[in-house]
Amino acid sequence: MKIIRKINTLRRLIKKVKQDKKTIGFVPTMGALHEGHLKLIQQARKENDFVVVSIFVNPTQFGPKEDFKKYPRNLKQDAFLCRKEGVDVIFYPDIKQMYPEGFKTYVKVNDLSNLLCGRFRPGHFRGVTTVVTKLFNIVNPDLAYFGQKDAQQAIIIKRMVLDLNIPIKIKVIPIVRDKDGLALSSRNVYLNPQERKDAVILYQSLRLAKKMVKAGILETKKIIKKIKQLIHTKKTARIQYISIVDLENLKPISRIKDKGLLAMAVYIGDTRLIDNTILKNPKA
Ligand code: PAJ
Repeated sequence: MKIIRKINTLRRLIKKVKQDKKTIGFVPTMGALHEGHLKLIQQARKENDFVVVSIFVNPTQFGPKEDFKKYPRNLKQDAFLCRKEGVDVIFYPDIKQMYPEGFKTYVKVNDLSNLLCGRFRPGHFRGVTTVVTKLFNIVNPDLAYFGQKDAQQAIIIKRMVLDLNIPIKIKVIPIVRDKDGLALSSRNVYLNPQERKDAVILYQSLRLAKKMVKAGILETKKIIKKIKQLIHTKKTARIQYISIVDLENLKPISRIKDKGLLAMAVYIGDTRLIDNTILKNPKA
């Protein structure tokens, strides 16, 4: 496995891989890899001849008051895990490689970027779509892998690839959870033991919603009210938003006709956690 820091070095290698008619699978990450990331990597390994993982904590997707500085970084451990999974290349650029002086161009997916998390993290998705476009242009993969954990991100990337005619197939991998149901996240390390216990309330609220829908309760207002009550039983929890939205345009729906995306952001102590599930009307 190679760790490549320079764009030009990676480009030269990719050119060779393409000449050999090998397919390339790509997993973009910000490192601090956990089982969730590894599922994406394993899928990429299964479906491609050559696997590239990028590790880059992308400054343009963090707000000024967000955790860019303290975001966990651990290349040694990440490299160990990638090697174990049979990754061919880790692309590990520094900020100057990705954003040299004079950088001025951004990619923004309108509307979708301003809803759900976008309402509370202005500029976040613009940062994501910009860096992913750059990474796509550098790595030139056939397939790229994203997690359902960041459902809005995956939907936005799919829209972008379609709109800009980017010839890459996007694969979305189900959420990987801890034993108690908490969705794995690099940010879970911020939780103290009490908060870690309380954090399971997100998953429990998704389960409650699923149960309600199964029982025929399809009005989203009713579902949201109930799960808000459940989350408020934890003292450390503060809800940022809970929405049930259309899976394509991300706009709130009042009734689950067929399917809806239940998405939430909840602070547990000072740590912002997100989670989601797809609610399906059993009678549809
Ligand atoms: P990061 O948070 O490191 O996540 C990298 C990929 O792993 C994303 O596609 C994310 O959805 C997926 N992932 C994270 N936790 C997961 C889990 N528990 N189950 C399944 N998949 C999970 O998302 C980013 O980085 C960045 O925004 C990036 C796309 C790299 C652009 O900077």
